[in-house]
Amino acid sequence: MPLSIRTLKLTDFRNYAAARLDLDARPVVLVGENGSGKTNLLEAVSLLGPGHGLRGRPYAELARNDGSGGFAIAATVRTPHGELDIGTGYGPGAGEDGAGRTVRIAGKDRGAGALGEYVKQVFLIPAMDGLFTGGGSERRRFLDRLVVAIAPGIRTSLNRYDRAMRQRNRLFQMREYSPALFEGLEEQMAEAGVAIAAARLDAVERLAALIEDRLAAQGQTPFPHAVLSLHGTLEADLAMRSATEAEDAFRILLEAGRERDRAAARTLEGPHRSDLLVVHGPKNAPAAICSSGEQKALLLGLVLAKAELIKTMDGIAPLVLLDEVAAHLDETRRRALFDEILRLEVQAWMTGTDKELFSPLAQDAQILDVNRGIIGS
Ligand SMILES: Nc1ncnc2c1ncn2[C@@H]1O[C@H](COP(=O)(O)OP(=O)(O)OP(=O)(O)O)[C@@H](O)[C@H]1O
Ligand SMILES: [Mg+2]
Repeated sequence: MPLSIRTLKLTDFRNYAAARLDLDARPVVLVGENGSGKTNLLEAVSLLGPGHGLRGRPYAELARNDGSGGFAIAATVRTPHGELDIGTGYGPGAGEDGAGRTVRIAGKDRGAGALGEYVKQVFLIPAMDGLFTGGGSERRRFLDRLVVAIAPGIRTSLNRYDRAMRQRNRLFQMREYSPALFEGLEEQMAEAGVAIAAARLDAVERLAALIEDRLAAQGQTPFPHAVLSLHGTLEADLAMRSATEAEDAFRILLEAGRERDRAAARTLEGPHRSDLLVVHGPKNAPAAICSSGEQKALLLGLVLAKAELIKTMDGIAPLVLLDEVAAHLDETRRRALFDEILRLEVQAWMTGTDKELFSPLAQDAQILDVNRGIIGS
């Protein structure tokens, strides 16, 4: 039984004044013209998990223009442990630093981070088209979303590392030289940094093993297999020594690098610079130099592999949100995508402007029409 959304109610969310969806566990297809509100719906679903949703936008932007200034999303989610009520909302008074969304899970007020225990998801949106050609930070985020999904505790380390590094960078701006001020922060960075690197290595290893197993079982599919490797100071270090030794080494490296980092006004080395290298397996070529169609197929294969890994580890398939994916695939790949979604038994959410493209799914999906903030079937 996959994780599935059974009811979804939106109030003043983006272009939806009020909307309600009643669903079963099958994949969901949203069809409508440009600007009708398909991606907005996917975004609402993504906010049932932790974070700022699939577009990563500030909450204030999500509140409907001409609305109350806030928004609310309420859902009933079917989990293997039964049905769960999840609500999240944002109001004008909720604080502008982004910490300000309220979350209720099964009637109890919780932090947004707690959503990660209940709603796991993977997503692919058009903005990720440049994942292989752009800078490393998007690829790091792509990997870290998986890391957090399979090892939720690592979120604390990611936050701790980030906070300590920002404080250390601020010391440079404030022209602080006192070693005592740096030592504590560098110790936190070393401890959290090694935990992050170890969790990333573990996630990449598991994902690579799953991809290899699939290749052995299915042979080549329309989605080329990816060959993955992780590059970073700590990740390389962990291949050679224990976590404690790597922590010490990183602490020493940070201390020795203080003046260099001061000149750059930022921390130049650490897990915040690590990169996930992806190679197109069948071509044995870096993803970055592949054609845009090849990159798209490679990325889609990776996203589906992520979903399968989460399903294997948790015993529950995550939600799979695929914005505008079908339109960019040729007929063979489109059918292969649908087959893969049905094989994985996930509640996938897909969008498109052309209903015809989804016809091979027939009764295996719930196809809904989206029309300027109104949803029908
Ligand atoms: N805060 C908001 N209040 C009201 N409308 C909004 C808000 N934010 C976005 N919109 C509008 O919502 C509409 C639907 O956006 P959405 O991205 O969901 O469209 P879409 O159906 O995915 O279209 P496309 O096929 O072009 O991707 C857009 O016209 C957008 O301007
Ligand atoms: Mg869209």
